[in-house]
Amino acid sequence: MMPVSMVGRVGELAELDRAWSAVAAVRRSSPAVAVLTGAAGVGKSLLVAAAVDAFAPRPALILSGAARVHGPAPYDWLAAVLTGRDTSRLGLPSDALAWLAQQPTAPRERYAPGTLLRLAVRTVQLLVGAGPAVLVVDDLHALDPASVNLVGELATVTDLPALLVVASRPPTDAVAPDLTRRALARLSGVRGAVRQHLGPLRPAEVAEVLTQVYAGSNPSGRLVTSLWRCTGGNPYALTELLAAHASEGPEALLRRLPGPRQPTAPRAPAAAADPVVDVPLDPELTAREVEVLGCLVAGMSNKQVAKALGISVRTVTVHVSNLLRKTGSVSRTEVALWAVRHRLPVPAPVD
Ligand SMILES: Nc1ncnc2c1ncn2[C@@H]1O[C@H](COP(=O)(O)OP(=O)(O)OP(=O)(O)O)[C@@H](O)[C@H]1O
Ligand SMILES: [Mg+2]
Repeated sequence: MMPVSMVGRVGELAELDRAWSAVAAVRRSSPAVAVLTGAAGVGKSLLVAAAVDAFAPRPALILSGAARVHGPAPYDWLAAVLTGRDTSRLGLPSDALAWLAQQPTAPRERYAPGTLLRLAVRTVQLLVGAGPAVLVVDDLHALDPASVNLVGELATVTDLPALLVVASRPPTDAVAPDLTRRALARLSGVRGAVRQHLGPLRPAEVAEVLTQVYAGSNPSGRLVTSLWRCTGGNPYALTELLAAHASEGPEALLRRLPGPRQPTAPRAPAAAADPVVDVPLDPELTAREVEVLGCLVAGMSNKQVAKALGISVRTVTVHVSNLLRKTGSVSRTEVALWAVRHRLPVPAPVD
């Protein structure tokens, strides 16, 4: 399947473009800030990339970094920004720069944390110079604490003519929820900050994706509705599903999707007298979701679930958000309780 190009998000793109135009037109000394949040796979990274790509006039400089999923180290964001960049003319201590860039030869722990933070801010200011620049921080929720602090500092520092664009999953999905919550609040509190929370795609946008995938042919309303319902409009879930099955054609795809709610689902054993138990199981839970549910009941973290089931953490978060939606729960604890109350035969997770 060809990569799907972005659908919808017109208002968000326009708002980000306006924020950039203002930065580019008026040489401000402190940065403008744009904060995007949304669930895993909702399209934050794609939106940021598309917006920055379309910025006119072109930014003099784009400094971009994301969290490394495996083994993040202090100042990961800055290390990503510094990779392959000549910093010899910045006039900063080379051993500190080497440490911030995570070069293997860098001396360890020569500077106090406060000094390193100041040096990190100074490094970014010197790189940006007269700007105007765009600073992209993707996956704030997964960044190391030093990077999160740095991003907060950058948002409020003077002498940084730039648009700071930060994308993050909600704090509840974060490695350090409180730190992420505080950082998002600090960023959103910057005067004039653009704040966007991305929701799922609407059915019309799912239809647009299908039109791309099936080369211009009009998708049936039934297929659109089924796909929208079973993916919750999550573009990641949608594109993954299409990548796996689109070659079979729209009719075959429709047959694969769960139909409308059936009242014939298995019920809890009659012996269980608890009236709550006598609610039918949701027939729309997939086998994988039931497995994930089993792990949640066992109190596992997303990382542990991913390891136990041999899938990526990102896929786990998509399953978890689908479970929240399908069970009408607001937290993973509530989902786990839902499973227990429904006596769901969840498989015991593997160690
Ligand atoms: N508006 C959209 N139209 C079409 N496809 C989209 C759209 N948004 C996202 N996608 C597709 O969905 C997938 C997930 O998008 P993306 O990586 O941007 O999500 P994300 O919110 O950054 O997720 P994460 O929280 O995991 O970083 C990608 O394959 C992307 O191309
Ligand atoms: Mg992303």
